[in-house]
Amino acid sequence: MIRQYTAYSLLAHNTFGIEAKAARYVEFASQSALIDFLGDGFRGKALVIGGGSNLLFVDDFDGTVFHSAIMDIDIIEETADDVLLRVGSGVNWDALVAYTVEKRWSGLENLSLIPGEVGASAVQNVGAYGVEAGDLIEKVETVRIADAVACSFTKADCDFAYRHSIFKATEKGRHIVTYVTYRLKKTIEFKLSYGNLKEKVEELGGATLANVRRAVCEIREAKLPNPEQIGSAGSFFMNPIVAADKAAQFKSEYPSMPQYPLPSGEVKLSAGWLIEQCGWKQTPHEHVGVYQHQALVVVNLGGAKGSDVLKFASAVVASVKEKFGVELNMEVNVIG
Ligand code: EPU
Repeated sequence: MIRQYTAYSLLAHNTFGIEAKAARYVEFASQSALIDFLGDGFRGKALVIGGGSNLLFVDDFDGTVFHSAIMDIDIIEETADDVLLRVGSGVNWDALVAYTVEKRWSGLENLSLIPGEVGASAVQNVGAYGVEAGDLIEKVETVRIADAVACSFTKADCDFAYRHSIFKATEKGRHIVTYVTYRLKKTIEFKLSYGNLKEKVEELGGATLANVRRAVCEIREAKLPNPEQIGSAGSFFMNPIVAADKAAQFKSEYPSMPQYPLPSGEVKLSAGWLIEQCGWKQTPHEHVGVYQHQALVVVNLGGAKGSDVLKFASAVVASVKEKFGVELNMEVNVIG
């Protein structure tokens, strides 16, 4: 089934809470309905959205916005050790995590409470507390927009890296994700080494999937704004990655600087810490600011336009560049 609307308000479809209109909005409930709708291919201006938790509209969108309402969840293979779960791209991410935790299948629990939908988990390679969605993804199914052909990408094809996939690179804008297949474990492998996660899980009574989920939810609730109360798109910037010698130089100058060594030998820095050091938690702005408990999150203080947010973000980038010589890149997709 297809639902279609024209001059459609996207206010409820972006967690920043910014008013913007789509010339046309198309929601599809199955892959076959989508393929039928696209006919021999779609050549207009297209934007695919999930939960709208990583988007910043600076203008109306004068093309067609596609949104998945594919909601199936099917076990396609099950062994004594693992489960292959094929999930529709329209399924709410946290509802999927809750479901897998309830079933006692391990893998997604550290990714509790991330806003958004299943389709975006593959595009964005969402990650938190030492786990990335790409670690669990076995396959991504899409429909290619230009010719309405169903495509399938293996984990290797997807080229997952930190907040990165092929769908943000060579295949950017070319596909509509319809299904994502995750490989989950029945034998539980806890990943508790990030920050104070282990401590929090112990406080809750020890390592069980339910306790890990609860601990992650509590940590996120304390640090990140609830999108239903405060407009934001979660982390606005990506954490920058610098060479080891640069990181060592920073460490001697700023001993409290958080640093995360990567397998490549490079070091990931905390953009939130860098932004806080530039004084942005204390700098009041009319419509836009950073969140008090996490400076990496740019928040809509009420009535912000996309352009206000962009102007503010540019000032943040310039200050970090001036103080630390580090370039911050946006994680958020700017539309318009
Ligand atoms: N920090 C500060 N000040 C701040 C923010 C952070 O000093 O204002 C410090 C913290 O004290 C900590 C370090 O920076 O020592 C890292 O902070 P945090 O654990 O909050 O993680 P992050 O690197 O800022 C990333 C992800 C989050 C994810 C967390 C946990 C990115 C862009 N963000 O944030 O993802 O939840 O790690 O894994 O990688 C998102 O993408 O929307 C998101 C929330």
